Amino acid sequence: MAGSGAALAAAQQSGAAGPKNFVIASGNGQRCCARALEMLGKGIDTLDAVIAGVNINEEDPEDDSVGYGGLPNEHGVVELDASVMHGPTRRAGSVASIRGVKTPSKIAKLVMEQTDHIMLVGEGASKFAEAYGFRPENLLTEKSRLAWLIWKRSLRDAGGHNNWTDGLDAPAIAGGGPTALKQAFPDVTDELLAYAWDRAVHPVTGTINCLALNAKGEMSGVTTTSGLSWKIAGRVGDSPIIGAGLYVDQDVGAAGSTGRGEENIRVCGAHSIVENMRHGMSAKDACLDVLKRVARNYNNDQTRLQKFDLNFYALRKDGDFAGASLWNGVWRRGQFRPRQFSYAVDGKSRLENCIFLLERPKA
Ligand code: GLY
Repeated sequence: MAGSGAALAAAQQSGAAGPKNFVIASGNGQRCCARALEMLGKGIDTLDAVIAGVNINEEDPEDDSVGYGGLPNEHGVVELDASVMHGPTRRAGSVASIRGVKTPSKIAKLVMEQTDHIMLVGEGASKFAEAYGFRPENLLTEKSRLAWLIWKRSLRDAGGHNNWTDGLDAPAIAGGGPTALKQAFPDVTDELLAYAWDRAVHPVTGTINCLALNAKGEMSGVTTTSGLSWKIAGRVGDSPIIGAGLYVDQDVGAAGSTGRGEENIRVCGAHSIVENMRHGMSAKDACLDVLKRVARNYNNDQTRLQKFDLNFYALRKDGDFAGASLWNGVWRRGQFRPRQFSYAVDGKSRLENCIFLLERPKA
């Protein structure tokens, strides 16, 4: 069954092959799942395994929704959010709007382990990271700086004017938008300009969430993100909010989220999913129930719901799992891309389509 894992739960419960190590993550987490599963196989703690998994995305300049290379706020500054939860000790840690650190998931774990607090934000979080030896780094890549500049150029006042373009007194450019963009950035490839324009007009809320269950039944989770691109400085999404972007209850299971954090915070998504599972729902039904609450917040008005994406990942302690999305996927330039999630078990990492609440009409 696409998007859920009742079969694994049945196998875990029957004990036919013994309980298995299992990792689930968002669609950008295939490498993350593979690394985390490998670490679980070596007996490494579930939280260390999922953090090592998401570190791949945090350090990858090509993942523009997480860590280094993540798209910046409206001032061109990268601000990151992350949270961790460790099932066996029932502890949590998180950071929000942290700057200058590629791997906020590691700082969230330090907050959990080395302080009497759960959440540090902004300058305090950055100073805390420095205290633990993380030297401030520039997280803006040339690619994300270009995307930010092009976003600034895409903005217009009521008269169609923008201060970040070439000015009223500049010679007129035949051929309009794309030609003007090429003229402004002559050394940038057409492919990169197309990417930057796409990001300017479709801001992302990407994110990676990763949840793990080991053969001893221990669970942990992590969520890490650069948040909404071009956000107001200081905007915090759902990822560092314990109970929204991530929740783990060692007795029941774990859940996490990617997509538009504002919608998730309003339904305390991860916590609501875990509570649904506590009351007997499958991972799939637990996620769909919460997605229905999100839709209800808009009186099921699909015109408004179409303006965002929201995705959940859930893993029950018995191994039942699901990846679920509000919409079945996205249309971009006439091409449909299904919403997917990653999971790894038995030494293999896979991508699978999410179960979904709504079918997106062709754009
Ligand atoms: N889910 C990521 C965010 O909204 O920031």
